[in-house]
Amino acid sequence: MTILVTGGAGYIGSHTVRLLRSSGRDVVVLDSLERGHRESLFDTPLVVGSIADESLVERVCRDFEVTDIVHFAAYKSAGESMETPGMYWLNNVQGTVHLVEGALAAGVNRLVFSSSAAVYGSPASLPVRESAPLAPENVYAETKAVMERVISWYGVTRGLRWASLRYFNAAGAAADGAIGEDWSITTNLVPLVMKAALGASGPLKVFGTDYPTPDGTGVRDYIHVEDLATAHVAALDHLATGGADITVNLGTGRGASVLEVLRETERVSGRPVPHEFVSRRPGDPAEVYADASLAAQLLGWKATHTLADIIESAYAWHSAHPTGFR
Ligand code: WQD
Repeated sequence: MTILVTGGAGYIGSHTVRLLRSSGRDVVVLDSLERGHRESLFDTPLVVGSIADESLVERVCRDFEVTDIVHFAAYKSAGESMETPGMYWLNNVQGTVHLVEGALAAGVNRLVFSSSAAVYGSPASLPVRESAPLAPENVYAETKAVMERVISWYGVTRGLRWASLRYFNAAGAAADGAIGEDWSITTNLVPLVMKAALGASGPLKVFGTDYPTPDGTGVRDYIHVEDLATAHVAALDHLATGGADITVNLGTGRGASVLEVLRETERVSGRPVPHEFVSRRPGDPAEVYADASLAAQLLGWKATHTLADIIESAYAWHSAHPTGFR
């Protein structure tokens, strides 16, 4: 009973690998290491390679007696996806087709998929439910929506069993400080706030103060990466015990503004966060937060970490590891 984790050397992947192993599961990671870090895996078996190499996927599944797959491997930068869309279609979508073909050839037919709330685009109503229309606003988000459809059609045509998990804004780091996010390749708020707080960058740019939100800055549903990890374990157990194919939101159900994140960081760090107010970032919705009730109902899962937990763990990681895993 081994779990194959693609992209397991990445941010959410590495936190999920740690939880799977600490809860007694055998794990093997397939990662190209293009953007992941071998150091985040410690002694977890790692095969360096591409999910697009069907024969490699089949061989790994057979050699490690894989029974289930958690599929994180994907490029995930919204901005980059608009500049180089081809690499997103090939890596994210075509790569998923090859992964599934290789897995099915080895008789593996259970897959938990790392999707994203980005598939909703700018939601028309809040909180966001799984039944909300999909309206991706960039190629990255579109690839996640297409990957969900590809996976569901493999369910119809080849009997693949699947759970698609739509993350809201993943943030934070392992509570014991052993692993965390690589801030060198991110455009996300929490690591960038940490960078500014620790003097590793110039002032944080606050994108817009004129949104129709309580303090005028953008509101998002920040969910702790260790809460995401527990949701993946719950989804694996759901499928392994015969549960139906599902698509669920993973969020806290609560929104926090940019200024709330900034103020919480100042409280935790005891230092000011240099920042400047600039114009809105194109494509940013004012407010996004989840209705997470379906995951509670189907998986018995709820987020347990607070925004304070997120900021405290992120600050502990980044202040102790200013150069990340390097
Ligand atoms: C959060 C808030 C910004 C940076 C993106 C992807 C999504 C998902 C999560 C993968 C917004 C504000 C940000 C900064 C700022 N990724 N902000 N200054 O845009 O909600 O979602 O990351 O699945 O697919 O779209 O996250 O962290 O970029 O922004 O003011 O330097 O912080 O305007 O309100 P976002 P984010």
